[in-house]
Amino acid sequence: MSERKVCLVTGGASGIGEACARAFAARGDIVIVGDIQDAKAVAVANDLGAQCLALHLDVREERDFEDACRIAQERYGRLDVLVNNAAIVGTLGPIASIPVEDWDYSQNVILRSVFLGMKHAARLMTPRQSGAIVNIASAAGMISGYGPHIYNACKAAVIQLTKSVSLELVEQGIRVNVVCPGNVETPIHTGVTDDRWKARMEKIRAEHHEDQAMPRMAQPAEIASAVCWLASDESSYVNGHALVVDGGMLAGRPWRQQPPFLREFHPTRR
Ligand SMILES: NC(=O)c1ccc[n+]([C@@H]2O[C@H](COP(=O)([O-])OP(=O)(O)OC[C@H]3O[C@@H](n4cnc5c(N)ncnc54)[C@H](O)[C@@H]3O)[C@@H](O)[C@H]2O)c1
Repeated sequence: MSERKVCLVTGGASGIGEACARAFAARGDIVIVGDIQDAKAVAVANDLGAQCLALHLDVREERDFEDACRIAQERYGRLDVLVNNAAIVGTLGPIASIPVEDWDYSQNVILRSVFLGMKHAARLMTPRQSGAIVNIASAAGMISGYGPHIYNACKAAVIQLTKSVSLELVEQGIRVNVVCPGNVETPIHTGVTDDRWKARMEKIRAEHHEDQAMPRMAQPAEIASAVCWLASDESSYVNGHALVVDGGMLAGRPWRQQPPFLREFHPTRR
């Protein structure tokens, strides 16, 4: 059996990040849960086992990434996996109405965070010539119309940044990949982080039933299993890859919404 990995998950207190933390722990890995929701991060880490740790990690702050990497090194002697997961939807509304400060804040959380995480993880991983970084982008980074302008733009940049950095770090034994989820049932859609999110989710869930190829949203664990695979040695020849996990959303128009002449059988004319 391979050695247990030391994994840092940003935004690990909720949604996809929490599911990743639980999936890593379930296969015996050590998890550092980084988040700004401190109480939730502690609750998740406590649930995962005595070796796991919660850290206050604001992904806008370079100092917080430095501290997280230092703590990983001091406590566990290494960092094997970084999941750059934390994000927000970002500033909403028409382009002409977006304040520059809101744009910058959003960009710092969604995009610059991924740069900072990779920068500091690479410093720790390079001497060992080993590691895996998994960034979380979105299907919205590949097609517009599923998020606000800032989100679409930053997620597209996360995909391209992943590919660019993967070419550099693979020469240091570090693989860098990105997961692009479709619609997942998490608080991010609801504008709240407390228990009210589940009630708000019901309306959103119904909307997604309509226009998705697979007529349901994903559960966070369905994204986490893809993240875990990319972080594991089972994907040892996968690098610079954008893995779409969207139930077929990006594949095109759902079959049931296609016009009858496409769906009905007619003998081919010869
Ligand atoms: N839910 C979806 O449908 C969906 C789809 C595609 C991509 N994603 C991406 O998945 C990732 C996780 O989102 P989620 O859906 O689990 O949302 P979520 O809101 O459940 O979790 C996001 C976590 O990030 C944390 N966070 C926010 N700002 C932070 C900061 N400055 N520093 C540190 N942590 C911060 C939050 O506290 C929260 O715990 C995000 O990158 C998101 O863009 C989500």
